[in-house]
Amino acid sequence: MAPKIILTRPLPAEKGLEGGALLDQAERAGLVRVVRWTKDEPVDRKWLLEELGKGDTDGLLCMHNGEKIDEELLEAAGSSLKVVSTMSAGYDHVDVSALKKRNIRFGTTPDALTDATADIGAMLALMATRRAGEGIRAVLDGKWPEMPWNPLLLCGHGLQNTTVGVIGFGKIGQTTLKRLLGFGIKRCLYSTSRVGAPLDSSRDYFKTLPLADYLGIEVRPAESYDEIARESDLVVLCCPLTPQTKHLVDAEFLSKVKPTACVVNTARGPVIDTDALVAAIREGRLASAGLDVVTGEPDIPADHPLVKEERIVLVPHIGSATIQARSGMSRDAARNCLAGVGVEGFEWANEV
Ligand code: DGY
Repeated sequence: MAPKIILTRPLPAEKGLEGGALLDQAERAGLVRVVRWTKDEPVDRKWLLEELGKGDTDGLLCMHNGEKIDEELLEAAGSSLKVVSTMSAGYDHVDVSALKKRNIRFGTTPDALTDATADIGAMLALMATRRAGEGIRAVLDGKWPEMPWNPLLLCGHGLQNTTVGVIGFGKIGQTTLKRLLGFGIKRCLYSTSRVGAPLDSSRDYFKTLPLADYLGIEVRPAESYDEIARESDLVVLCCPLTPQTKHLVDAEFLSKVKPTACVVNTARGPVIDTDALVAAIREGRLASAGLDVVTGEPDIPADHPLVKEERIVLVPHIGSATIQARSGMSRDAARNCLAGVGVEGFEWANEV
């Protein structure tokens, strides 16, 4: 019998998602059987446990948002499961050691979303530093007529001649930096997974070390997170969420930042301690923040402090939300899954 794949969200080929087309083709050719969760909302855990519990699943193609791949799920799947493929770059929702223990292969999609996420990082940096969030709120609330132009109306801090601290200097971090060059930044301090360590050539996305020569600005590893906090006009978070990066931006970090600085997060919400961020902004110790991700998302009501705080620009986790990126992510996730269940002609896009 053809291998069975469970797909935890629709990937409509007719809407341009290449991964959906690949799975449909493989299914039509009788190479796989695909069992689909058909709603556009996170898969019901009970349904998934029951489906996996049949003991005949070879591959699981899952998403980041609202799903947890943990011991309970893998126990339910039993020994038939060969591959878990997540359609995401981040994989803090997956218990990787539980997979490894069972020799289940694991794929992610870190390549297709680099540009889209870097765009959102640059957009948030601009919107937050230029107080666009406040301006948009004022217009939508009909307050513009009460706000005649004056020399200091909604003046923010430009990015010209600034220092940018990039925490998490992988593909997305480096590409975000490249976007920001267009706005006149003059220096970058970065941290890789080992703060203080210089980028090694295997992690140089542009294949151009030394980066300073390529980018035409000073680029060097920060000595410490403290140095990033103290020196940066803009801190951009692009790191994975790990026990080491959880609450990396906390009250202590925020006690060192410049009052004119901005923090942008395109990584994962819990990298920032929300309460500490809100307090720093309210007390004028940090000028602004631009957030694509927050702790507790998507359950963020309109009266949440992050929403109410005008100096925070908050968008609902849309870093990779372009058709191009999502199509590429779906393609890579489908490839990982099809290769992992052993369908000939499919190569892994990325295996962790
Ligand atoms: C990712 O791919 O990690 C994005 O954040 C989507 O969840």
